[in-house]
Amino acid sequence: MAHTVLVTGAAGYIGSHTCVCLLEAGWRVIALDNFSNSSPAVLSRIEEITGRTLAMIEADVRDHAALSQLLQSEGIDAVVHFAGLKAVAESVSRPLEYFDNNVAGSLALLRALNLHGIRRLVFSSSATVYGEPQSVPVTETAPLSVTNPYGRSKLIIEQMLGDLAHADAEWRIATLRYFNPAGAHESGRLGEDPRGIPNNLMPYVAQVALGRRPCLSIFGNDYPTPDGTGLRDYIHVMDLARGHLAALNRLFRHSGCFTVNLGTGQGTSVLQAVQAFEAACGHPIARRFSSRRPGDVAACYASCEAAETLLDWRAEKNVAQMCVDQWRWQSLNPDGYRDCASASQQPVATPQS
Ligand code: NAD
Ligand code: WQD
Repeated sequence: MAHTVLVTGAAGYIGSHTCVCLLEAGWRVIALDNFSNSSPAVLSRIEEITGRTLAMIEADVRDHAALSQLLQSEGIDAVVHFAGLKAVAESVSRPLEYFDNNVAGSLALLRALNLHGIRRLVFSSSATVYGEPQSVPVTETAPLSVTNPYGRSKLIIEQMLGDLAHADAEWRIATLRYFNPAGAHESGRLGEDPRGIPNNLMPYVAQVALGRRPCLSIFGNDYPTPDGTGLRDYIHVMDLARGHLAALNRLFRHSGCFTVNLGTGQGTSVLQAVQAFEAACGHPIARRFSSRRPGDVAACYASCEAAETLLDWRAEKNVAQMCVDQWRWQSLNPDGYRDCASASQQPVATPQS
Protein backbone atom coordinates (compact mmCIF):
# COMPACT_ATOMS: atom_id res chain seq x y z
CA MET A 1 0.00 0.00 0.00
CA ALA A 2 1.17 3.52 -0.77
CA HIS A 3 2.71 5.48 2.09
CA THR A 4 1.07 8.72 3.15
CA VAL A 5 3.20 11.82 3.51
CA LEU A 6 2.26 15.16 5.02
CA VAL A 7 3.96 18.03 3.17
CA THR A 8 3.98 21.33 5.07
CA GLY A 9 4.50 24.42 2.91
CA ALA A 10 3.32 22.30 -0.03
CA ALA A 11 2.08 25.22 -2.10
CA GLY A 12 5.46 26.97 -2.02
CA TYR A 13 8.21 26.87 -4.59
CA ILE A 14 10.11 23.76 -3.53
CA GLY A 15 7.12 22.09 -1.85
CA SER A 16 4.98 22.18 -4.98
CA HIS A 17 7.68 20.59 -7.15
CA THR A 18 8.30 17.96 -4.50
CA CYS A 19 4.58 17.13 -4.40
CA VAL A 20 4.78 16.40 -8.14
CA CYS A 21 7.67 14.02 -7.56
CA LEU A 22 5.96 12.29 -4.64
CA LEU A 23 2.65 11.85 -6.47
CA GLU A 24 4.42 10.53 -9.56
CA ALA A 25 6.24 8.03 -7.36
CA GLY A 26 2.88 6.78 -6.06
CA TRP A 27 2.80 8.41 -2.61
CA ARG A 28 -0.43 9.64 -1.10
CA VAL A 29 0.14 13.32 -0.36
CA ILE A 30 -1.57 15.48 2.25
CA ALA A 31 -0.62 19.09 1.58
CA LEU A 32 -0.70 21.74 4.29
CA ASP A 33 -0.09 25.45 3.78
CA ASN A 34 -1.30 28.73 5.24
CA PHE A 35 -0.73 30.44 1.85
CA SER A 36 1.23 33.25 3.50
CA ASN A 37 3.67 33.11 0.60
CA SER A 38 1.85 31.06 -2.02
CA SER A 39 -1.38 30.60 -3.89
CA PRO A 40 -4.00 27.83 -3.70
CA ALA A 41 -3.91 27.81 -7.54
CA VAL A 42 -0.70 25.77 -7.28
CA LEU A 43 -2.61 22.70 -6.20
CA SER A 44 -4.70 22.32 -9.33
CA ARG A 45 -1.51 22.71 -11.36
CA ILE A 46 0.12 19.87 -9.42
CA GLU A 47 -2.95 17.73 -10.13
CA GLU A 48 -2.93 18.76 -13.77
CA ILE A 49 0.73 17.73 -14.20
CA THR A 50 0.50 14.46 -12.33
CA GLY A 51 -3.06 13.38 -13.14
CA ARG A 52 -3.41 12.59 -9.44
CA THR A 53 -5.22 14.28 -6.59
CA LEU A 54 -3.83 15.53 -3.33
CA ALA A 55 -5.66 16.56 -0.19
CA MET A 56 -5.15 20.19 0.73
CA ILE A 57 -5.48 21.59 4.22
CA GLU A 58 -5.30 25.33 4.71
CA ALA A 59 -3.69 25.69 8.12
CA ASP A 60 -0.72 27.08 9.95
CA VAL A 61 1.79 24.61 11.39
CA ARG A 62 1.45 26.48 14.68
CA ASP A 63 -2.29 25.68 14.81
CA HIS A 64 -2.27 22.81 17.29
CA ALA A 65 -5.93 21.89 16.89
CA ALA A 66 -5.77 21.71 13.09
CA LEU A 67 -2.56 19.70 13.18
CA SER A 68 -3.86 17.26 15.78
CA GLN A 69 -7.04 16.63 13.86
CA LEU A 70 -5.05 15.98 10.71
CA LEU A 71 -2.56 13.65 12.34
CA GLN A 72 -5.34 11.72 14.03
CA SER A 73 -7.38 11.15 10.91
CA GLU A 74 -5.01 10.72 7.97
CA GLY A 75 -2.72 7.81 8.82
CA ILE A 76 0.44 9.76 8.08
CA ASP A 77 3.69 7.79 7.80
CA ALA A 78 6.16 10.64 7.29
CA VAL A 79 6.41 14.42 7.03
CA VAL A 80 8.34 16.70 4.72
CA HIS A 81 8.57 20.07 6.45
CA PHE A 82 9.01 23.05 4.10
CA ALA A 83 6.76 25.57 5.86
CA GLY A 84 8.61 28.65 6.96
CA LEU A 85 9.76 32.11 6.00
CA LYS A 86 12.90 32.43 3.92
CA ALA A 87 13.83 36.03 3.07
CA VAL A 88 17.17 36.92 4.62
CA ALA A 89 16.78 40.72 4.57
CA GLU A 90 13.24 40.54 5.94
CA SER A 91 14.50 38.33 8.77
CA VAL A 92 16.90 41.08 9.79
CA SER A 93 14.09 43.63 10.09
CA ARG A 94 11.47 41.21 11.51
CA PRO A 95 13.43 38.63 13.51
CA LEU A 96 10.58 37.66 15.84
CA GLU A 97 8.37 36.67 12.92
CA TYR A 98 11.14 34.38 11.71
CA PHE A 99 11.67 32.75 15.09
CA ASP A 100 7.94 32.39 15.54
CA ASN A 101 7.19 30.95 12.10
CA ASN A 102 10.30 28.85 11.66
CA VAL A 103 11.40 27.82 15.15
CA ALA A 104 8.06 27.86 16.99
CA GLY A 105 6.38 26.41 13.88
CA SER A 106 8.83 23.51 13.76
CA LEU A 107 8.53 23.00 17.51
CA ALA A 108 4.73 22.85 17.27
CA LEU A 109 4.98 20.34 14.44
CA LEU A 110 7.48 18.16 16.29
CA ARG A 111 5.37 18.12 19.44
CA ALA A 112 2.31 17.09 17.47
CA LEU A 113 4.24 14.38 15.61
CA ASN A 114 5.67 13.05 18.87
CA LEU A 115 2.21 12.93 20.37
CA HIS A 116 0.86 10.92 17.45
CA GLY A 117 3.86 8.61 17.17
CA ILE A 118 4.96 9.86 13.74
CA ARG A 119 8.74 9.84 13.72
CA ARG A 120 9.92 10.17 10.14
CA LEU A 121 10.78 13.70 9.08
CA VAL A 122 12.54 15.40 6.19
CA PHE A 123 13.56 18.95 7.09
CA SER A 124 14.37 21.85 4.73
CA SER A 125 17.60 23.33 5.94
CA SER A 126 19.91 25.57 4.00
CA ALA A 127 23.54 26.13 3.07
CA THR A 128 23.04 29.35 5.00
CA VAL A 129 24.03 27.39 8.14
CA TYR A 130 27.63 27.32 6.84
CA GLY A 131 27.86 31.12 7.14
CA GLU A 132 31.03 32.16 5.33
CA PRO A 133 32.57 28.84 4.27
CA GLN A 134 36.26 28.54 5.11
CA SER A 135 36.79 26.36 2.04
CA VAL A 136 34.82 25.04 -0.93
CA PRO A 137 33.35 22.62 -1.80
CA VAL A 138 31.56 22.68 1.55
CA THR A 139 31.19 19.34 3.32
CA GLU A 140 28.53 18.59 5.92
CA THR A 141 31.18 18.58 8.66
CA ALA A 142 32.25 22.18 7.95
CA PRO A 143 31.89 24.59 10.88
CA LEU A 144 28.42 26.08 11.24
CA SER A 145 27.82 29.77 11.78
CA VAL A 146 25.09 32.20 10.91
CA THR A 147 24.94 35.86 10.02
CA ASN A 148 21.21 36.65 10.15
CA PRO A 149 18.01 35.62 11.97
CA TYR A 150 16.84 33.43 9.07
CA GLY A 151 20.05 31.42 9.20
CA ARG A 152 19.86 31.29 12.99
CA SER A 153 16.31 29.94 12.81
CA LYS A 154 17.51 27.09 10.57
CA LEU A 155 20.47 26.33 12.82
CA ILE A 156 18.28 26.30 15.94
CA ILE A 157 15.88 23.88 14.25
CA GLU A 158 18.78 21.63 13.21
CA GLN A 159 20.02 21.63 16.81
CA MET A 160 16.52 20.95 18.11
CA LEU A 161 16.24 17.97 15.76
CA GLY A 162 19.63 16.70 16.95
CA ASP A 163 18.53 16.87 20.60
CA LEU A 164 15.25 15.16 19.80
CA ALA A 165 16.94 12.30 17.97
CA HIS A 166 19.41 11.96 20.84
CA ALA A 167 16.56 11.68 23.33
CA ASP A 168 14.51 9.20 21.31
CA ALA A 169 16.21 6.78 18.92
CA GLU A 170 12.87 6.07 17.24
CA TRP A 171 13.16 9.33 15.31
CA ARG A 172 14.38 9.11 11.72
CA ILE A 173 15.27 12.56 10.45
CA ALA A 174 16.77 13.70 7.16
CA THR A 175 18.15 17.23 7.28
CA LEU A 176 18.65 18.52 3.75
CA ARG A 177 20.83 21.58 3.28
CA TYR A 178 19.84 23.11 -0.04
CA PHE A 179 22.24 25.31 -1.94
CA ASN A 180 20.62 27.72 -4.46
CA PRO A 181 17.34 26.36 -5.84
CA ALA A 182 16.48 27.59 -9.34
CA GLY A 183 14.46 26.63 -12.41
CA ALA A 184 10.92 25.38 -12.70
CA HIS A 185 8.92 22.33 -13.73
CA GLU A 186 9.57 21.60 -17.39
CA SER A 187 5.85 21.88 -18.22
CA GLY A 188 5.98 25.63 -17.56
CA ARG A 189 2.98 25.22 -15.22
CA LEU A 190 4.84 25.33 -11.88
CA GLY A 191 7.57 27.69 -10.79
CA GLU A 192 8.68 30.26 -8.28
CA ASP A 193 6.22 33.11 -7.79
CA PRO A 194 7.90 35.64 -5.51
CA ARG A 195 5.77 38.36 -3.99
CA GLY A 196 7.15 41.87 -4.49
CA ILE A 197 10.78 42.36 -5.46
CA PRO A 198 12.59 39.02 -5.75
CA ASN A 199 15.38 38.51 -3.24
CA ASN A 200 17.23 35.88 -5.23
CA LEU A 201 19.25 36.18 -8.39
CA MET A 202 17.39 33.85 -10.76
CA PRO A 203 13.85 35.19 -10.29
CA TYR A 204 15.23 38.72 -10.49
CA VAL A 205 17.01 37.98 -13.76
CA ALA A 206 13.82 36.37 -15.08
CA GLN A 207 11.84 39.54 -14.32
CA VAL A 208 14.45 41.71 -16.05
CA ALA A 209 14.29 39.36 -19.05
CA LEU A 210 10.51 39.79 -19.08
CA GLY A 211 10.80 43.59 -18.99
CA ARG A 212 9.16 43.86 -15.59
CA ARG A 213 12.32 45.30 -14.05
CA PRO A 214 14.68 47.59 -15.90
CA CYS A 215 18.07 46.28 -14.87
CA LEU A 216 19.87 43.69 -12.75
CA SER A 217 22.29 45.03 -10.16
CA ILE A 218 25.21 42.66 -9.85
CA PHE A 219 26.31 42.89 -6.26
CA GLY A 220 30.09 43.16 -6.45
CA ASN A 221 32.64 42.42 -9.17
CA ASP A 222 35.70 42.46 -6.95
CA TYR A 223 35.36 39.08 -5.24
CA PRO A 224 38.35 36.72 -5.38
CA THR A 225 36.60 34.59 -8.04
CA PRO A 226 37.51 34.06 -11.71
CA ASP A 227 35.33 36.93 -13.00
CA GLY A 228 35.00 38.87 -9.74
CA THR A 229 31.30 38.04 -9.19
CA GLY A 230 29.92 35.68 -6.53
CA LEU A 231 30.05 31.91 -7.10
CA ARG A 232 27.04 29.83 -6.09
CA ASP A 233 25.76 26.30 -6.52
CA TYR A 234 22.46 26.60 -8.41
CA ILE A 235 20.41 23.42 -8.25
CA HIS A 236 17.37 22.65 -10.38
CA VAL A 237 14.23 22.53 -8.28
CA MET A 238 13.24 19.17 -9.81
CA ASP A 239 16.61 17.68 -8.85
CA LEU A 240 15.94 19.02 -5.37
CA ALA A 241 12.47 17.46 -5.42
CA ARG A 242 13.99 14.08 -6.34
CA GLY A 243 16.38 14.52 -3.43
CA HIS A 244 13.41 14.65 -1.05
CA LEU A 245 11.98 11.47 -2.49
CA ALA A 246 15.35 9.75 -2.08
CA ALA A 247 15.61 11.01 1.51
CA LEU A 248 12.10 9.79 2.36
CA ASN A 249 12.80 6.39 0.85
CA ARG A 250 15.90 6.09 2.99
CA LEU A 251 13.90 6.89 6.13
CA PHE A 252 11.71 3.86 5.41
CA ARG A 253 14.71 1.57 4.95
CA HIS A 254 17.14 2.70 7.66
CA SER A 255 16.91 3.90 11.23
CA GLY A 256 18.79 6.95 12.47
CA CYS A 257 19.28 10.48 11.23
CA PHE A 258 21.43 12.08 8.59
CA THR A 259 22.30 15.49 7.20
CA VAL A 260 23.23 16.03 3.56
CA ASN A 261 23.94 18.86 1.17
CA LEU A 262 21.76 19.05 -1.91
CA GLY A 263 23.71 20.89 -4.59
CA THR A 264 25.47 20.16 -7.86
CA GLY A 265 29.04 20.62 -6.67
CA GLN A 266 29.55 23.28 -9.37
CA GLY A 267 30.15 26.96 -8.70
CA THR A 268 28.55 29.35 -11.20
CA SER A 269 29.29 33.08 -11.16
CA VAL A 270 26.62 35.75 -11.39
CA LEU A 271 27.92 36.69 -14.84
CA GLN A 272 27.83 33.07 -16.02
CA ALA A 273 24.26 32.74 -14.71
CA VAL A 274 23.21 35.90 -16.56
CA GLN A 275 24.84 34.66 -19.77
CA ALA A 276 23.04 31.32 -19.46
CA PHE A 277 19.75 33.17 -19.02
CA GLU A 278 20.44 35.34 -22.06
CA ALA A 279 20.97 32.17 -24.10
CA ALA A 280 17.66 30.80 -22.76
CA CYS A 281 15.53 33.87 -23.42
CA GLY A 282 17.31 34.92 -26.61
CA HIS A 283 17.97 38.54 -25.76
CA PRO A 284 20.42 40.58 -23.67
CA ILE A 285 19.68 41.24 -19.99
CA ALA A 286 20.41 44.77 -18.81
CA ARG A 287 22.84 44.70 -15.91
CA ARG A 288 25.18 46.96 -14.06
CA PHE A 289 27.71 46.40 -11.34
CA SER A 290 26.91 47.78 -7.92
CA SER A 291 28.51 47.42 -4.50
CA ARG A 292 28.62 44.14 -2.63
CA ARG A 293 25.45 43.12 -0.76
CA PRO A 294 26.14 43.03 3.00
CA GLY A 295 26.43 39.47 4.29
CA ASP A 296 27.22 37.92 0.87
CA VAL A 297 30.11 35.48 0.61
CA ALA A 298 32.48 35.15 -2.35
CA ALA A 299 31.96 31.45 -3.06
CA CYS A 300 29.70 28.72 -1.78
CA TYR A 301 29.21 25.37 -3.46
CA ALA A 302 28.52 21.90 -2.18
CA SER A 303 30.42 18.74 -1.71
CA CYS A 304 27.84 16.21 -2.91
CA GLU A 305 29.51 12.99 -1.82
CA ALA A 306 27.30 12.36 1.20
CA ALA A 307 24.09 12.63 -0.85
CA GLU A 308 25.55 10.29 -3.46
CA THR A 309 26.58 7.74 -0.86
CA LEU A 310 23.55 7.87 1.43
CA LEU A 311 20.79 8.60 -1.07
CA ASP A 312 22.23 7.41 -4.37
CA TRP A 313 21.19 10.86 -5.57
CA ARG A 314 23.00 13.38 -7.71
CA ALA A 315 21.84 16.47 -9.54
CA GLU A 316 21.22 15.86 -13.24
CA LYS A 317 20.37 19.28 -14.64
CA ASN A 318 22.77 22.12 -15.33
CA VAL A 319 22.43 25.90 -15.16
CA ALA A 320 21.50 26.14 -18.86
CA GLN A 321 18.51 23.82 -18.26
CA MET A 322 17.52 25.74 -15.13
CA CYS A 323 17.43 28.97 -17.14
CA VAL A 324 15.44 27.41 -19.99
CA ASP A 325 12.84 26.07 -17.53
CA GLN A 326 12.76 29.27 -15.48
CA TRP A 327 12.24 31.34 -18.64
CA ARG A 328 9.47 29.04 -19.90
CA TRP A 329 7.68 29.38 -16.57
CA GLN A 330 8.21 33.15 -16.37
CA SER A 331 7.21 33.90 -19.95
CA LEU A 332 4.12 31.64 -19.88
CA ASN A 333 3.04 32.98 -16.47
CA PRO A 334 4.10 36.63 -16.38
CA ASP A 335 1.85 37.21 -13.37
CA GLY A 336 2.71 33.92 -11.71
CA TYR A 337 -0.30 32.16 -10.22
CA ARG A 338 -2.27 35.40 -10.21
CA ASP A 339 -2.89 34.74 -13.91
CA CYS A 340 -5.84 32.43 -13.17
CA ALA A 341 -7.34 32.71 -16.67
CA SER A 342 -4.48 30.76 -18.19
CA ALA A 343 -4.88 28.12 -15.48
CA SER A 344 -8.49 27.45 -16.40
CA GLN A 345 -7.73 27.30 -20.13
CA GLN A 346 -5.50 24.27 -19.69
CA PRO A 347 -6.98 20.79 -19.86
CA VAL A 348 -7.05 19.16 -16.45
CA ALA A 349 -6.08 15.49 -16.34
CA THR A 350 -8.50 13.04 -14.77
CA PRO A 351 -7.40 12.26 -11.21
CA GLN A 352 -6.35 8.63 -10.81
CA SER A 353 -6.23 8.35 -7.06
P1 NAD B 1 8.20 29.30 -0.21
O1 NAD B 1 7.98 30.55 0.56
O2 NAD B 1 7.91 29.30 -1.65
O3 NAD B 1 7.40 28.11 0.46
C1 NAD B 1 7.14 28.05 1.84
C2 NAD B 1 5.66 27.71 2.00
O4 NAD B 1 5.37 27.60 3.39
C3 NAD B 1 4.74 28.81 1.45
O5 NAD B 1 3.76 28.21 0.62
C4 NAD B 1 4.11 29.45 2.68
O6 NAD B 1 2.81 29.92 2.41
C5 NAD B 1 4.15 28.29 3.66
N1 NAD B 1 4.21 28.68 5.07
C6 NAD B 1 5.04 29.60 5.64
N2 NAD B 1 4.84 29.63 6.96
C7 NAD B 1 3.87 28.72 7.24
C8 NAD B 1 3.24 28.30 8.42
N3 NAD B 1 3.55 28.83 9.60
N4 NAD B 1 2.30 27.33 8.34
C9 NAD B 1 1.96 26.79 7.14
N5 NAD B 1 2.52 27.16 5.98
C10 NAD B 1 3.48 28.12 6.04
O7 NAD B 1 9.71 28.86 0.06
P2 NAD B 1 10.57 27.72 -0.66
O8 NAD B 1 11.59 28.38 -1.48
O9 NAD B 1 9.69 26.72 -1.26
O10 NAD B 1 11.30 27.13 0.61
C11 NAD B 1 10.81 25.99 1.29
C12 NAD B 1 11.72 25.70 2.47
O11 NAD B 1 13.05 25.53 2.00
C13 NAD B 1 11.77 26.82 3.51
O12 NAD B 1 11.81 26.24 4.78
C14 NAD B 1 13.06 27.52 3.18
O13 NAD B 1 13.62 28.14 4.32
C15 NAD B 1 13.93 26.37 2.71
N6 NAD B 1 15.00 26.80 1.80
C16 NAD B 1 14.70 27.54 0.70
C17 NAD B 1 15.73 27.96 -0.13
C18 NAD B 1 15.46 28.84 -1.32
O14 NAD B 1 16.37 29.56 -1.76
N7 NAD B 1 14.26 28.82 -1.89
C19 NAD B 1 17.05 27.59 0.15
C20 NAD B 1 17.31 26.81 1.26
C21 NAD B 1 16.27 26.41 2.10
C1 WQD C 1 23.14 34.62 -5.51
C2 WQD C 1 24.26 35.48 -6.07
C3 WQD C 1 24.42 37.64 -5.02
C4 WQD C 1 20.58 39.13 -6.51
C5 WQD C 1 20.18 33.05 -0.52
C6 WQD C 1 20.08 32.87 0.96
C7 WQD C 1 20.29 31.42 1.32
C8 WQD C 1 19.36 30.50 0.52
C9 WQD C 1 19.44 30.79 -0.94
C10 WQD C 1 17.39 30.09 1.82
C11 WQD C 1 25.03 36.24 -5.00
C12 WQD C 1 24.05 37.79 -6.49
C13 WQD C 1 21.67 38.35 -6.25
C14 WQD C 1 20.74 40.29 -7.31
C15 WQD C 1 23.08 39.78 -7.53
N1 WQD C 1 17.98 30.70 0.89
N2 WQD C 1 22.90 38.65 -6.75
N3 WQD C 1 22.00 40.57 -7.80
O1 WQD C 1 22.56 34.94 -1.34
O2 WQD C 1 23.52 32.81 -2.32
O3 WQD C 1 21.50 32.69 -0.93
O4 WQD C 1 19.23 32.20 -1.16
O5 WQD C 1 17.84 29.30 2.59
O6 WQD C 1 20.06 31.33 2.68
O7 WQD C 1 21.06 33.68 1.59
O8 WQD C 1 21.32 33.67 -3.17
O9 WQD C 1 20.11 34.28 -5.20
O10 WQD C 1 20.29 35.97 -3.34
O11 WQD C 1 22.32 35.42 -4.65
O12 WQD C 1 24.20 40.08 -7.99
O13 WQD C 1 19.81 41.06 -7.57
O14 WQD C 1 23.68 36.49 -6.90
O15 WQD C 1 25.32 38.65 -4.63
O16 WQD C 1 26.37 36.29 -5.42
P1 WQD C 1 22.33 33.61 -1.90
P2 WQD C 1 20.90 34.86 -4.11
